[in-house]
Amino acid sequence: MSHYQVEGNDPCDWTDWESAGKTRGGPCGRAAGSWERYEEDAEAAAALGANAFRFSVSWSRVEPRRGEFDEAALERYARLVVRLDALGLEPVVTLLHYTHPRWFHDETPWTSTASVDAFGRFSARTARALGPKARCWTVLNEPLVLVLGGYLDGQVPPGIASARDAARALDHLLAAHEAAAAEIRAAIPGAAIGVAHNMMGFAPERARNPFDRALVRVAGRFYNQALLDAFGEGRWSAYLPPFTRLAGRRPGLPASLDFFGVNYYSRLHLRFLGDGGRIGSFAYRDPHGRGLTDNGWEVVPEAFPPLLRQAASLGKPLFVTENGLADAADTKRAAFLEAHVGVLQAAEVEGLPVHGYLHWSLVDNYEWLDGWEPRFGLLE
Ligand code: BGC
Repeated sequence: MSHYQVEGNDPCDWTDWESAGKTRGGPCGRAAGSWERYEEDAEAAAALGANAFRFSVSWSRVEPRRGEFDEAALERYARLVVRLDALGLEPVVTLLHYTHPRWFHDETPWTSTASVDAFGRFSARTARALGPKARCWTVLNEPLVLVLGGYLDGQVPPGIASARDAARALDHLLAAHEAAAAEIRAAIPGAAIGVAHNMMGFAPERARNPFDRALVRVAGRFYNQALLDAFGEGRWSAYLPPFTRLAGRRPGLPASLDFFGVNYYSRLHLRFLGDGGRIGSFAYRDPHGRGLTDNGWEVVPEAFPPLLRQAASLGKPLFVTENGLADAADTKRAAFLEAHVGVLQAAEVEGLPVHGYLHWSLVDNYEWLDGWEPRFGLLE
């Protein structure tokens, strides 16, 4: 679960984004009330038979003003870790799941190197507060998605649309991962450091069309592979036609990663020369007739194995850090779970190093741009 989507009333950039009417789904409000009811969440996960629990820390609660840390907020997260441990649930901690403190974009934005120091300080304080029971860290959630939404098409905070800023932001996010890894390792010897990367299936809209197929290759390289290159080789170069290239070099990055997290949901069908003269368009389809999820995504476990193999080429242990569906009536959820867990069983037989599966999500939560309608929770 991510802090913003369940805790409620987080004083951060997303709250302001919502009040400015920039989302489709209305305000998040008190969400699932998890800021207060975190123990119930932990107990519910344990009752379902889980042995791990992923959550994120709200940077805005922990550091509401730059350089001023809120000990009470840190203690609240420390209590969650103690509770999880007592229930036999391995805490999996994320430090950046899309939201930022209100001061961040003005004072130390991701386009500046100051962001790296700021994030390093926040990581150090949080790691020290959570202590040695917090052994497993997915430092950044979907850094590329944040860059695409926040810096390339401007749909999410800080709402910038500039290829140059996007390239800078990605570089600093990866530097911040490295800085955070060093801080966490210093505070918690033996901690395992990872990242959660959103990986998508891509298919040509017209199976034999060479242009659609070329688009699929370009999208896969940009969206799925570039971050694997970054963490595998310490350099990346991602090209998005016609004019965007996000490229950079961080030689220390590979050594800062112990495991790789895959967030997998669905597949997009790509067509060359899209509407309005765009170079390509994308859509969800339902070729297997399984029915789309409530938010219109294809259910396609078949697209999952190749992505796991691609991630395994990194040579690090893998975790599925998110997988799930919006299904308010619960008509597709059971088959979805069986099929996707089946993929993991087959992956294990194949020898892929998949060490765990974290379902998204434990409880229904606030879905960023779409609000309360999509219900991803195992529990209502
Ligand atoms: C995000 C979650 C989100 C889920 C479903 C993931 O990309 O990390 O925060 O709820 O997708 O949209």
